[in-house]
Amino acid sequence: MTTVVLRPAHVPDTTIVEGPRVLRRLPEGVPSRPYDVFGLRPLGRVIGAEIEGVHLARPLTEPVRAELHRAFLEWKVLFFRDQDITPAQQRAFARNWGELETNPLLPAGDSDDVTRFSRDAAMPAFENIWHTDVTFRPNPALGSVLRLVRVPAAGGDTMWADMAAAYDNLPADVRRRITGLRAVHDFVPGFARFTDPEFLAARQAEFPPVEHPVVRTHPETGRRTLFVNPAFTTHIVGLDRAESDALLRVLFAQAHVPEFQIRFAWTENAVAFWDNRATQHYAVNDYAPEVRVAERVAIAGDRPY
Ligand SMILES: [Fe+2]
Repeated sequence: MTTVVLRPAHVPDTTIVEGPRVLRRLPEGVPSRPYDVFGLRPLGRVIGAEIEGVHLARPLTEPVRAELHRAFLEWKVLFFRDQDITPAQQRAFARNWGELETNPLLPAGDSDDVTRFSRDAAMPAFENIWHTDVTFRPNPALGSVLRLVRVPAAGGDTMWADMAAAYDNLPADVRRRITGLRAVHDFVPGFARFTDPEFLAARQAEFPPVEHPVVRTHPETGRRTLFVNPAFTTHIVGLDRAESDALLRVLFAQAHVPEFQIRFAWTENAVAFWDNRATQHYAVNDYAPEVRVAERVAIAGDRPY
């Protein structure tokens, strides 16, 4: 039987260096263009925009789908308020971007490809760690569509960080050092915080650790994004433990820089649609004993390179 290794050596934060930031929202050479078929209100400098005038209950026309796709790549996370849609409509919207992903490690909602997150005093939240979804799989999700079904009176925000800005702002010597490096991602440390060891042991054979490049090239924008996260990345291949921990500490801290982040205050039936290839996120856990219920659909992704 496989032995479950509980959380490996914890890699703590480092101090964020102050000073100027490179805040480049678009890939090099791509001009900022307006959106013609809906309203777009920026919520941050490099990441996050609210879309106005699109209802997700109806099938998207091709011009709307195409502009949303451009906005998705350019803003990394899009928000839509007041979307009183069914799980089937949520699924249909996500299908515009590809096949849906099932996550057998999480509880299903009304079907296998809808994950329902219900957090209350009996089931505390554990998504309050910076992460990119399912990087423990060979092909992590392309993106996710999350709808808030029940929102606490205060709190329960979600934060996203732009991992292209995180990469751009690494010191030049760190960027050189991580070029070509690969890291191991494993679901066990992340899930060990809230999952019983028997279940973990049973699933380890199904989801063995995988390697991904430390710096990923976004398959559509071509931008380099930092692709390690403290929920699933355990170590950097070829470095000894102390060196790997020290380097990961620096890389993980990049997601903590406020200039690269957006923080979204949910309202009931608000929807977020994020590019999982370009971002990390963190669900702020500040609302217990109130209840927060969300439903997520994830879109299957490709192999990072
Ligand atoms: Fe997540």
